[in-house]
Amino acid sequence: MILSIESSCDDSSIAITEIESKRLVFSKRISQAEIHSEYGGVVPELASRLHLEALTSILEEIKEFIPNLKAISVTTEPGLLVTLVEGVTMAKALSIALKLPIIGVNHLKGHIYSLFIEKELEEFPMLILLVSGGHTQLIEMSDWNSFKVIASTLDDSLGESYDKVAKMLKLPYPGGPVIEKLAQNGDENRFAFPVPLSQSPKMAFSYSGLKNAVRLEIQKLDEVTEQDKSDISASFQKSATQHIIQKLKKYLKTGKTGVKKFGIVGGVSANLYIRGELEKLLSNFNIPLIAPELKYCSDNGEMIGRFAIERFIRGERDELEKIDIKSRSLL
Ligand code: KG4
Ligand code: ZN
Repeated sequence: MILSIESSCDDSSIAITEIESKRLVFSKRISQAEIHSEYGGVVPELASRLHLEALTSILEEIKEFIPNLKAISVTTEPGLLVTLVEGVTMAKALSIALKLPIIGVNHLKGHIYSLFIEKELEEFPMLILLVSGGHTQLIEMSDWNSFKVIASTLDDSLGESYDKVAKMLKLPYPGGPVIEKLAQNGDENRFAFPVPLSQSPKMAFSYSGLKNAVRLEIQKLDEVTEQDKSDISASFQKSATQHIIQKLKKYLKTGKTGVKKFGIVGGVSANLYIRGELEKLLSNFNIPLIAPELKYCSDNGEMIGRFAIERFIRGERDELEKIDIKSRSLL
């Protein structure tokens, strides 16, 4: 079994996965979202202290599995340095005390592997849309650890734009789930927000212009009613999603992809409206959409363990001294 630790942002999570069967034997996540919600976003120092408490309390529960462990894995990058350090220190301590190898995992690869939790890998090449609080990327995955970024955001990420629009509407953090819910009762045609980069041939994403267009509309309203909030949410979500659909359509139309499946991952992949719109587009190209179970869309230790298993079975180990943390990193 492999033990995996995730602490890159505001979720403290530990999972234990059987290496051969890929089956989870233990997993627990303690989310801090409600606590940070009071401050309108994640407060790094507070998150760090909460991880200290949460990770140690979860560790108390896994004692019975310790004799079966073959490796310790941990998220090392990208993320908040003061929270990554909590998980990495714990992982290093476990590695030394239990004399087990350590495997560092890139959080973005972890999100991609949320598609394979308790499953075998898919056939490659695949296309991946990674949409989270920090990233918006279209990625070609040609093998278990071969990734090519086709398009990235020029400014804000999709998740961030949901969070910022929610803040403008005085809604709680994280904004994504709240906006999605409000949008269900909203008129998506009431506000004609621009679809970003719709006139540009660039394979890139951008959300700052759309965010500002939403801000201007909100300023025009004397008083923001509940219906206004729903209509703004629906209209924003429509433009934000159309942006992805337009860029993806353009890419798929080149016909050079040959992809077997399309995966959507990251916190925003929990959004059923976006999943639905993607499915409609992809069906025209006969490409099946796959997505993680809803509980694996946001940060979790299970996805970290799943990628670590692929490294482990190929004999990959990291040197303890070389395990470091990074706030930013590529795939
Ligand atoms: O992957 P994640 O948990 O953390 C990062 O690695 O960033 O993603 C968090 C982001 C937040 O911006 C949150 O608002 C967004 O995912 N999110 C959603 C939904 N659920 C979470 N965005 C849109 N619709 C949702 N249902
Ligand atoms: Zn994440």
